[in-house]
Amino acid sequence: MRGSSKRRPEAEQGARLLQQQIEMGGRELFMDRLTREQALALAAAAKSSGADILPVDSGENVKSLPVLPASYEELRSAALSCDRCQLAESRTQVVFSDGAVDARLVVVGEAPGANEDRTGVPFVGAAGRYLDLLLATVGMSRRDSVYICNVLKCRPPGNRNPMADEISACSSFLEKQLELVHPEALLAVGSFAAQLLTGQEKTALGRLRGEVHSYRDIPLVCTYHPAALLRNPKWTRSFWDDLQLLRAVMDSA
Ligand code: URA
Repeated sequence: MRGSSKRRPEAEQGARLLQQQIEMGGRELFMDRLTREQALALAAAAKSSGADILPVDSGENVKSLPVLPASYEELRSAALSCDRCQLAESRTQVVFSDGAVDARLVVVGEAPGANEDRTGVPFVGAAGRYLDLLLATVGMSRRDSVYICNVLKCRPPGNRNPMADEISACSSFLEKQLELVHPEALLAVGSFAAQLLTGQEKTALGRLRGEVHSYRDIPLVCTYHPAALLRNPKWTRSFWDDLQLLRAVMDSA
């Protein structure tokens, strides 16, 4: 098994932060971990169900999609020069990914914001720092065990929601990334990633979270976006529950 479950300094820092939230009135935040048997049953159920194919390009406002290269570095450079949709005109930088290419876990977010567009690195703003802390509490970090990317690789102007044709244009990059990294588990944060990866595009995030789905035989957990947690701190408890579910699935792999 890759990685280690030993607690690191960031994990201690994250645990302290969450403890502070509880002390500030956030109610009880920690839940018991699932048993190994429960996690195995959830993972087995996920393997036998669920969507496994990302949506095909609708073709409307999107350039025709050439076959993507098979190697990781070629895929990355194809993304960096991509002009398949209108976001190519307004972006500063393409934001492809961060973290370990041989990661145990891939986290998929929505789209770059202003900080990410400026730096070219996903999840570097306040939401990203909060996500890092929360992942550290379950012993995961982008330094060695987490790979992080987004549904869209370019920033929608003004941080508006991704549009359907932009998702169609970009989703084959994500599909190939997931195939090449091939992690033990996936965490979709926010409704755009959750709906895309489950193939349940009309289902609310609240109904997708709390269970184990499957994306091409990879166990998938969906949860709130860390930016939503910053706006609604009481959702942190549910996020924490979802992280425990994810951890249990990974521990049982
Ligand atoms: N929100 C996201 O979904 N992704 C980022 O990279 C930054 C903020």
